[in-house]
Amino acid sequence: MIKLVDATKKYNSQSNEILALNHTSMTIQAGEMVAVMGTSGCGKSTLLNILGGMDRLTSGHYYFEDEDIASFGPHKLHLFRKNHIGFVFQNFALLNRQTVYENLEIPLLARNQRHYKKRIMDCLEQLGLAERAKSLPLNLSGGQQQRCAIGRALMTGCSLLLCDEPTGALDSKTTKEIMDLFCKLNMEGKTIIIATHDDEVAKCCKRIVRMEDGVLQQ
Ligand SMILES: Nc1ncnc2c1ncn2[C@@H]1O[C@H](COP(=O)(O)OP(=O)(O)OP(=O)(O)O)[C@@H](O)[C@H]1O
Ligand SMILES: [Mg+2]
Repeated sequence: MIKLVDATKKYNSQSNEILALNHTSMTIQAGEMVAVMGTSGCGKSTLLNILGGMDRLTSGHYYFEDEDIASFGPHKLHLFRKNHIGFVFQNFALLNRQTVYENLEIPLLARNQRHYKKRIMDCLEQLGLAERAKSLPLNLSGGQQQRCAIGRALMTGCSLLLCDEPTGALDSKTTKEIMDLFCKLNMEGKTIIIATHDDEVAKCCKRIVRMEDGVLQQ
């Protein structure tokens, strides 16, 4: 599903140049659940941003289902993100003035979809959030907020879920609950990549990829 070949991402900050990805390669098959681990600054978030089409490689190739995403212009990249990618962040990134239901509605409105009420309520039911549909995110626990954010990512119909330290703000019990949810989604067919510092999170994944100074060790 995913193939990075000799991928490099260079940042120019003031006078020095940072190689956040340094001529690195890797392959991920459809249906995998992979943890990416490594010290702070090794390039995990950069990797996820590239895989999600949020940022572009400086050089090298990124194949997604045999298409070279690195060659896409802004419009094709936007469509790629919209059609294939779901993002989950450490800080949930929910719209706090909108209800749980309205947060899940956002991707559907962006796709001009209609008659989706049942789809949202079924998803909230599956996430154990049906009773909180009308709540504002800040009135929910951390785990509930993250489940809401996962629900919003699922509304895109994405095949690849990219999670950047999704349990970084949660306690260990809630972390387990969120990991159980990821495992269930993976069994239902989603490909999942999780950047994490947490060994317990990594243990739940089928494969661990270590990263060091912008290089993925497979
Ligand atoms: N927009 C940017 N401009 C300049 N340098 C950047 C930028 N984004 C990231 N970097 C640098 O690229 C390197 C990799 O950063 P990245 O955020 O990918 O690390 P990370 O592994 O996700 O770290 P953490 O575990 O702390 O989240 C770091 O040296 C960082 O300072
Ligand atoms: Mg990071």
